[in-house]
Amino acid sequence: MAKNLHSFLKEYEEQYPEDVIHIEKEVDTDQEITAIVERLEALNKYPVLIFEKMLNEGGKQSQYPLVTNLLASRVRYARICNSTYERLGRDVHRQLIEEKREPQVISSEESPVKEVVKTGDQVDLFELPLAIHNTMDAGRYIAAGFFTTYDPDSGIDNCAIQRGWVKEKNQIRALVAPRPGHNGWNLHKHEIKNQDMRAVMWIGHHPLAYTGGLAKLPYPGSHWEAMGGMLGEPLRLVASESLGDDFLVPADAEVVIEGFVEANKRYAEGPFGEFPGYYGGQIINPQLTVTAVTHRKDLIWYDIVAGHTDHLMTGAPPLEGMLWEKLRPIFPSLVNVHMPLSGTGRFHAYLQMKNPPLGAAKQAILQALTVNPFLIKHAFAFDDDVDIFSPRDVMWAIATRSQWARDVTLLPGTKQTALDPSRLWGPGDAGGIDCTRPWGEPYEQRVGVDPEILEKTQLEDYISSEALAGVSFETY
Ligand SMILES: Cc1cc2nc3c(=O)[nH]c(=O)nc-3n(C[C@H](O)[C@H](O)[C@H](O)COP(=O)(O)O)c2cc1C
Repeated sequence: MAKNLHSFLKEYEEQYPEDVIHIEKEVDTDQEITAIVERLEALNKYPVLIFEKMLNEGGKQSQYPLVTNLLASRVRYARICNSTYERLGRDVHRQLIEEKREPQVISSEESPVKEVVKTGDQVDLFELPLAIHNTMDAGRYIAAGFFTTYDPDSGIDNCAIQRGWVKEKNQIRALVAPRPGHNGWNLHKHEIKNQDMRAVMWIGHHPLAYTGGLAKLPYPGSHWEAMGGMLGEPLRLVASESLGDDFLVPADAEVVIEGFVEANKRYAEGPFGEFPGYYGGQIINPQLTVTAVTHRKDLIWYDIVAGHTDHLMTGAPPLEGMLWEKLRPIFPSLVNVHMPLSGTGRFHAYLQMKNPPLGAAKQAILQALTVNPFLIKHAFAFDDDVDIFSPRDVMWAIATRSQWARDVTLLPGTKQTALDPSRLWGPGDAGGIDCTRPWGEPYEQRVGVDPEILEKTQLEDYISSEALAGVSFETY
């Protein structure tokens, strides 16, 4: 059987039953999911959540359950990608680039996503359990949908998760980032010829397919192939229902929403709670007019809790992998990289280096700031004894290994994402701090006991587990 969301949930729950929580109680699509997630976040817990009974507008129960938080945990993300906590980003990037494979086209009869086909007046997107994620959101949003278009010149597909406000039962206003975004490029190529653009939003698949779809590839680059690389098998595709046989869509997705974007038309979209933890304000965006919806009979609606851990973690490891891939060939002293969630998983890059030669840490910082200039805003270089996955160790290194007049690099007025409110509508500043020990000089030693003494000193020999369990813990 080809991998899909159903097969993933079954296998994962069999292996890690404690990490999947089914909620049988009725839950309102209006912010109640986010409220539950916020409560869990306060406890530092990020399980897969399956909501069996979702209530839509007017308290009407949706026919479909909702799954969320799938990639909210880095531990789970690493398990899914057969990687480790520390190597996750690097492994994801390598796998989807090096092991990419051609997709396979199958018939409609064989395609689970064609079990239910709705066209014309049968289309009503509000049948789906569409959530309102945060209090100021403009309305009900598709937060985990891959907006998918084809480059009219090469015929190569492009997928990107792009938020979609379901404005009417057959209309979606989507934040399709303009050029250099790749769907933005495809739209531009249609619009200069005043042609409408065929597009789909597909939602729900095996999380490995999601990680392949999330990859930032050179333009044009096939996400179908990258998804196959992650899945370890060819991605199965099928001809669309209403956009022609040449427009292929994922056969094992939960839902495919087909339609077209009118050339050179824009509509008000947003506000929407975004990854920096603020609302992205109302802007003008393209609109998808829906021509068909196809889905599995046993459809599970996949949602990403916007503006929260789920949103940040889903996107962080692919960016981490890209950062590693770009920097490592230039800086062999680079040991690892991390895009921490405390920096939104997009704005802060940590670079861990072993004995970087004179100037290399600063050069690596400059390079990191160009990998994705819209997102990476601050880069920090650390020595290899600093645990870049420990916020306390990182802040300790900033505190004790940097002098800012010497170690800070600033790039004022370089372009940043509009979603960063600190820009105050102007261009933003990028910069970094070199927190590596000054090159070529002896540096003070970190305190600590002899490793051998630490090894033979086990707490249970001194303190009972009951006594230890009774002591409150604190995070610093
Ligand atoms: C959960 C999530 C939501 C996102 N929402 C949007 C969005 O609404 N609009 C957008 O342009 N990019 C969004 N992104 C970022 C794009 O998916 C990402 O930049 C992608 O690599 C764009 O690729 P492309 O230019 O190759 O199409 C989102 C990413 C994630 C992980």
